[in-house]
Amino acid sequence: MRYYVLVKILAVTTIILSVIGFTLVYLHLILGYDVIKYITGSVEYRREEEVKIVGSGSIIYLPLPVFKGNMSLEEAILHRRSIREYRKESLTLHQLSQLLWAAQGITEVRWGFRASPSAGATYPLEIYVVVGNNGVKGLVSGVYRYQPHSHSLVLVKKGDVREELYSACLNQEWVRDAPVVLVIAADYERTTRVYGERGIRYVHMEVGHVGQNIYLEATALGLGTVAVGAFYDDEVRVIIGASENHHPLYVMPVGIPVKPYEVTPQEIYNYIEMNRD
Ligand SMILES: Cc1cc2nc3c(=O)[nH]c(=O)nc-3n(C[C@H](O)[C@H](O)[C@H](O)COP(=O)(O)O)c2cc1C
Repeated sequence: MRYYVLVKILAVTTIILSVIGFTLVYLHLILGYDVIKYITGSVEYRREEEVKIVGSGSIIYLPLPVFKGNMSLEEAILHRRSIREYRKESLTLHQLSQLLWAAQGITEVRWGFRASPSAGATYPLEIYVVVGNNGVKGLVSGVYRYQPHSHSLVLVKKGDVREELYSACLNQEWVRDAPVVLVIAADYERTTRVYGERGIRYVHMEVGHVGQNIYLEATALGLGTVAVGAFYDDEVRVIIGASENHHPLYVMPVGIPVKPYEVTPQEIYNYIEMNRD
């Protein structure tokens, strides 16, 4: 009798698990839903953001990014340097498009994964683009927010805010003098709701990935940038017109270097040799 009950429980459990399993496979393979992400909420978040952004202002569709450049990855790493002096020249929309794509652009089309890795694909980072007067050919001065899925900008605030940003960044002149300043801000909740406290650490790791991509893309385009971490968080947030849950983590001025950084492979080899026994 006991044996019969056990078999019955086992059979019912197997049927229930099979139904759940088939449903998950059906949703995932046939309908294309990432069930885990729906449970954790990350897909929902992405959609909310997109809808909110699209409804809030004028949209500029950026020129499509190109996936071949004039510099190898190794050359970009070799020639990357923090650059703090820029020529008084505008950037082109194409250059801005490349920088933003390298930072947070789409590199996978099933789920909309991006150029920089993100814990659980929660994508907590938002890129604000501060455009100075004549900062970008074809773009009026103001603050814009990058929308990765449509590779577009949405206008957040009109006018040149670099002078205010410079003062919020402890009077670092490169923030005032660059034609464009990228501000990377984080919505921690998107990651902490999945990973708890540990999510904070993940967000900080992610901003490093994005910052490095911007550095390397800038170098590959013949531009210069510097990762600025010294600023008054709340002042920067208000100046760029970000909501209270978007916390600025990096401010990255970008421009054409007055003096591009130069180094030869031979100099590096000599340095390494000199430090060998
Ligand atoms: C987290 C972090 C914060 C930084 N903050 C600033 C800053 O506020 N101002 C600045 O001019 N440079 C800043 N830098 C740039 C460093 O000074 C620079 O990376 C360092 O001098 C090494 O030079 P390199 O980037 O040319 O290799 C920061 C870099 C990092 C990684």
